[in-house]
Amino acid sequence: MEIKPGQVAVITGAGSGIGKALAIACARRGLQVLVADIEQAAATTTAEEIQALGGNALAMCVDVSDAKQVNAMAEQCWQHFGACDLLCNNAGVSINKPLAECTSSDWHWVLSVNTMAIGYALNAFLPRMKEHGSGHIVNTASMAGLIPLSNFGVYVASKYAVVGLSEVLAQELAADNIGVSILCPGIVSTRIFESERNRSDKSISQLADDTDPMHTDFDQAYSRILTPDQVASMVLTAVANNLLYIPTHPEWAPLFQQRSDAIHSAFDTPLNNNNPTNI
Ligand SMILES: NC(=O)c1ccc[n+]([C@@H]2O[C@H](COP(=O)([O-])OP(=O)(O)OC[C@H]3O[C@@H](n4cnc5c(N)ncnc54)[C@H](O)[C@@H]3O)[C@@H](O)[C@H]2O)c1
Repeated sequence: MEIKPGQVAVITGAGSGIGKALAIACARRGLQVLVADIEQAAATTTAEEIQALGGNALAMCVDVSDAKQVNAMAEQCWQHFGACDLLCNNAGVSINKPLAECTSSDWHWVLSVNTMAIGYALNAFLPRMKEHGSGHIVNTASMAGLIPLSNFGVYVASKYAVVGLSEVLAQELAADNIGVSILCPGIVSTRIFESERNRSDKSISQLADDTDPMHTDFDQAYSRILTPDQVASMVLTAVANNLLYIPTHPEWAPLFQQRSDAIHSAFDTPLNNNNPTNI
């Protein structure tokens, strides 16, 4: 999509981290921004920062895992701005523990915020975007949407789903002049590892006070931390060039290659001749 001043961007999870940086980057390019977040105060702060830059922003408190609130956000967007050119489904949460320890509440929370919410937003926004005849959708996945990361199983499941649904969406919208991009960052300096601050079910363990929220057990080769501003700039470049994949950390490519090679060689394994010596 050609990015032009006056266009309207809707960004979920825009009260913090990547979403906030994206909202401010859009405003710097002259876009009007609907700043949505489950934390009203954080959304308001982002909107105020945009207004201080001379931009136009509207803050809304929205829980993206609630379809009614997502519909209300779309209504408010068209009432206030009359359009949505760029929809960024960015809000997300993470859990870091082995699958065997994940509860049904963990599964429900992460999948509803990271994955189901995108379905709700597509229902709420796409019909009017199609009528308008142009636009772009950015769905935030993760490197965890491309690579299986131990101790992030529920998060990985939610983000593989984002990659899959977005690839289908790109095919389905090809004739509608609506582009799709899938944001796949490695590590970015945000509050993602403090996600449980926004969880209504508080039966979960909090980070110990002395825990570094950006600490991960990833190999050093995959520990490079980008700033949210760097990621936001990559996203806008990808939108302007209609790129489907936005892998912000190219050094993770060998891990993706390992997975893709393993799947590819499985296709070549003869499973239908009952002869184990051929395997
Ligand atoms: N930070 C990373 O290393 C990293 C890496 C890969 C992908 N991501 C993805 O980037 C996206 C943004 O996360 P971030 O890293 O900026 O983290 P962050 O915690 O700084 O920001 C996430 C924002 O989403 C909001 N949010 C949480 N639940 C919500 C809900 N139900 N409804 C609406 N808003 C909600 C939070 O209030 C917060 O403002 C997420 O989808 C995350 O999975 C982050």
